Amino acid sequence: CGIVGYVGPQSALDVVTAGLKRLEYRGYDSAGVAVLADGGLATAKRAGKLVNLEKELAARPLPTGATGIGHTRWATHGGPTDANAHPHLDNAGRVAVVHNGIIENFAELRAELAGRGHDLASETDTEVVAHLLAEEFSSCADLAEAMRLVCKRLLGAFTLVAVHADAPDVVVGARRDSPLVVGVGEGESFLASDVAAFIEHTRSAIELGQDQVVELRRDQVTVTGFDGAPTDVRTYHVDWDASAAEKGGYPSFMLKEIAEQPRAVADTLLGRIDGSGALSLDEVRIPPEALREADKVVIVACGTAFHAGLIAKYAIEHWTRIPCEVELASEFRHRDPILDPQTLVIAVSQSGETMDTLMALRHAREQGARVLAICNTNGSTIPRESDAVLYTHAGPEVAVASTKAFLTQLVACYLVALYLAQVRGAKDADEIRAVVRDLSAISRSVERVLETMEPVRELARALAHKDTVLFLGRHVGYPVALEGALKLKELAYMHAEGFAAGELKHGPIALVEDDLPVVVVVPSPRGRSVLHDKMVSSIQEIRARGARTVVIAEEGDDEVVPYADHLILVPAVPTLLQPLVTTVPLQVFACELATTRGNEVDQPRNLAKSVTVE
Ligand code: G6P
Repeated sequence: CGIVGYVGPQSALDVVTAGLKRLEYRGYDSAGVAVLADGGLATAKRAGKLVNLEKELAARPLPTGATGIGHTRWATHGGPTDANAHPHLDNAGRVAVVHNGIIENFAELRAELAGRGHDLASETDTEVVAHLLAEEFSSCADLAEAMRLVCKRLLGAFTLVAVHADAPDVVVGARRDSPLVVGVGEGESFLASDVAAFIEHTRSAIELGQDQVVELRRDQVTVTGFDGAPTDVRTYHVDWDASAAEKGGYPSFMLKEIAEQPRAVADTLLGRIDGSGALSLDEVRIPPEALREADKVVIVACGTAFHAGLIAKYAIEHWTRIPCEVELASEFRHRDPILDPQTLVIAVSQSGETMDTLMALRHAREQGARVLAICNTNGSTIPRESDAVLYTHAGPEVAVASTKAFLTQLVACYLVALYLAQVRGAKDADEIRAVVRDLSAISRSVERVLETMEPVRELARALAHKDTVLFLGRHVGYPVALEGALKLKELAYMHAEGFAAGELKHGPIALVEDDLPVVVVVPSPRGRSVLHDKMVSSIQEIRARGARTVVIAEEGDDEVVPYADHLILVPAVPTLLQPLVTTVPLQVFACELATTRGNEVDQPRNLAKSVTVE
């Protein structure tokens, strides 16, 4: 979500809505604003993109005021409706609050407030904060102090910004986890999730630390801890231009999204593992009996999401022992696939709007199959038309070539596979817990991969003049090879092909010639070492024919070293989870190679982020 606050001589509404526009990349499920004017509080909020709110404001203008806050939402829990949009108010309509995060003890606080006669209008955790703030303010008459007192009572992750009609020149903010930055202007102050929101007004910024509260006035910014102790603040100068600011300082959205992957993976697991480390997926509303009766899984998807499906097949069949087919949505739909109510169809889509996937899911439902969507966009068409949905929590993905959405699609597929195994008794609770533990550790492994990418970028620059790159993989490394090749086609406009290494000898090896770069995704030498040994043989075969081998292998895999012209090491993780770490260097490789060739990586030629035609 994106948050903006302002106090100063300009129209707060204009500053806040302009700021929200710059933060729309953080979410566009709903948007809302609150302005203090004429001794009162005026608000407007609307589901959908910011333009809906703008239309509302044009039709019913708010009074002009000097103090205001705004929010643009990326819905994760709770649908993207008008009522769930922020800001949320107290009963008297004097306090307005916007919020990022999840307040874990809100049910308890809600019951407590109801007991004291508060009437809570929504089920949201944010509304509880508005009521608590109103109560505290009524006794201390200091909004920053009220915020500190409230924060001490909240559990979970929250970044909050609030205004009170009885404190007309004050905006307060509190930070735990998601970012909050102050913009210090001349006689005006700003507050936002990201400097992009105020960079056109000031470049002087203060980053709020963890568990800090800020009080914003026109000429004064006061930062304290939740305990009220004053905090030293360090003002820094923002030297990004406005477009770099939206990208968090990264040269492209793609690089930003690649960097966000550890967080995206962790967020997709959040709330889906209970206190005992077991899986908790009640949100999949397909009745357990139906899942027990399922005798076939069919995954339909397009592009990168299709590759996630190909990888998921290995996990689903291994963990659940249910046969699983994976098919391109555009092919599936025009075949005569054998489906019945015992078939579980999984539709994987980042956007939730891909027409091919939508048509495939309609085709499946017409024949009585149940459809579970794995999707990154709340309330989009594919989840709406499915029987159930498991959302990936990658956050908005702007770059056309999918990166963080892919990794979270894998995590979501694994969660579904484990859930099926759990419901059907195909695995016992301890085994499931062990895999869940491994999955929870993946975010850190992805982070480690990202820390070691400079040699990959160097290599990409060195190979930028090549015409062709081949990718080889085996087992789950095969779809990773396909994904590596797709990224290179999409971004670098190069001829790139992914092959199953075992197929090499049946044809593709004829392509190998002197100095041809071949990227090889090597399976772990541990456990299924037959796969590893076969891969080492494949590398030797292509090298003997002149290939320049780029080897992606597990740390400690000494056996491949003599055959690698370039070696990229990734942390050791269980075999089925390897795609989550081996894909990352391929994304970085494609992105750097494309940039070196002068291509625009966020919006590659001829492509669209969501293809809503068949
Ligand atoms: C488009 C995009 C791809 C994406 C595919 C599926 O072709 O360019 O990056 O993988 O659609 O999109 P979806 O939103 O259904 O995951």
